[in-house]
Amino acid sequence: MKASQSTRQKKVSPSKTKQTSLKKSPTNSVKAWGGRFSEATDALVERFTTSLHIDQRLFEYDIQGSMAHCQTLEKAKVLSKTECQKLIRGLTRVRSELREGQFPFADSDEDIHMAVERRLTKLIGPLGGKLHTGRSRNDQVTLDLRLYLRDQLQVLNGQIQAVQSAFVQQASQHINTLIPGYTHLQRAQPVSLAHHFLAYVEMMERDKARVSDALRRINVMPLGSGALAGSNYPTDRTFTAKLLNFPALSQNSLDAVSDRDYVAEVLSVLSLIMMHLSRLSEELILWSSQEFSFMELPDAFCTGSSMMPQKKNPDVPELIRGKTGRVYGQLVTLLTTLKGLPLSYNRDLQEDKEPLFDALQTVVDSLTIYAQLIQRIHVRQDVVGKAVGSGFLLATELADYLVQESVPFREAHSIVGQLVQTCIKNSKELKDLSLKDLQAISPRFSKRALAFLTVQGAVDRKSQIGGTARKQVARQIKFWEQRLKKKVSA
Ligand code: ARG
Repeated sequence: MKASQSTRQKKVSPSKTKQTSLKKSPTNSVKAWGGRFSEATDALVERFTTSLHIDQRLFEYDIQGSMAHCQTLEKAKVLSKTECQKLIRGLTRVRSELREGQFPFADSDEDIHMAVERRLTKLIGPLGGKLHTGRSRNDQVTLDLRLYLRDQLQVLNGQIQAVQSAFVQQASQHINTLIPGYTHLQRAQPVSLAHHFLAYVEMMERDKARVSDALRRINVMPLGSGALAGSNYPTDRTFTAKLLNFPALSQNSLDAVSDRDYVAEVLSVLSLIMMHLSRLSEELILWSSQEFSFMELPDAFCTGSSMMPQKKNPDVPELIRGKTGRVYGQLVTLLTTLKGLPLSYNRDLQEDKEPLFDALQTVVDSLTIYAQLIQRIHVRQDVVGKAVGSGFLLATELADYLVQESVPFREAHSIVGQLVQTCIKNSKELKDLSLKDLQAISPRFSKRALAFLTVQGAVDRKSQIGGTARKQVARQIKFWEQRLKKKVSA
């Protein structure tokens, strides 16, 4: 065993590995693939094709993947133990340089993968040239992206949960704050403000579930697919997957290098999250307007006008609403990039990262801001209290009262409709009507009808699961408090 190891080491010893002559461009940069070329890359083309400024944020994952690849090559006896160790040590140094911002990037670095390999070779010599054995950037880049997303989606779900917690906290303060509920932006029926806040918690729970679901398809190990066809080396892909903590392996190399469904999925999940945040933004903007005045946003999250001294503008919700278009745009960008691509890898796929990174950043920032802002919104109890007392919010209650008195609902609906019309004509609210007024329209009304007409009663009668009754809402708050105590995992 020892003997064969040493023979193998002899054959592949770094000192015996010859430095290949790499092509130099006029800027004196070196291209790893320069062998086939008789002309240096045009400087403009170099600038046009590079993705380094975008993909350098993948460096941690690139190095993690490369280390696992080295170990896989060692297990397959393509690298000796010493070579593997030297490569891993070299990669560790490269990683420190990148972490500390000391990494010397070169104009010729096409992407983070080439930059790492170039630097590694500079640091440890020609052995660095063995790192790419049995691997292509095509399987490498999709591995990096999957590793990156695994981490980012955890962060994302953590931030969604932070916003949920802020809402539950607000809800617990406002079980008894009764507000007009709206449909068509017209006053409809009274609801507990806590119920309204918890609606966002529900949406966001679905968002988290979608993130977790996307993660199941991301958690598939593509390395070993090579450029498109697989690898000539007897690498144990299950071993690589174990090293990198992947529960599954890709089963088709062509699909593995060309699949970006998972990026599109993440962008679509991000779009839905932004859609929810945008609807929330719209309500914050509306409710903090002077016309509504239901709430005040914290000063720290608003900005003023350069001209009008009195202004306090809800710029944060406005920007989040505005940035929603940008996130949708990134989804459409990627879907459009993918739609015409033949199998397998095409350079177009390099255009996947910018939309993804931009959208992720936007969504995580928006969630982080809302987790704080929501905690600090101040509800104007006086204003909502007044609002909930007007606008015929109890009309349906009155109709339901008549139903109790055996009036068919359609007839009850029409009777109350007539009452509302009378009120509008006389600038009155339903509660201003006397029993006589009611009985003038229908003899089925009795004294009990008047007692029926309270906002609290209207809210608390909606006591089935999912309704706005305060008991039910309190139960929901307890449920969420328990559930959100658990640290979220994607
Ligand atoms: N930077 C490329 C990307 O992000 C990976 C390079 C693949 N290039 C190639 N010529 N096969 O997709």
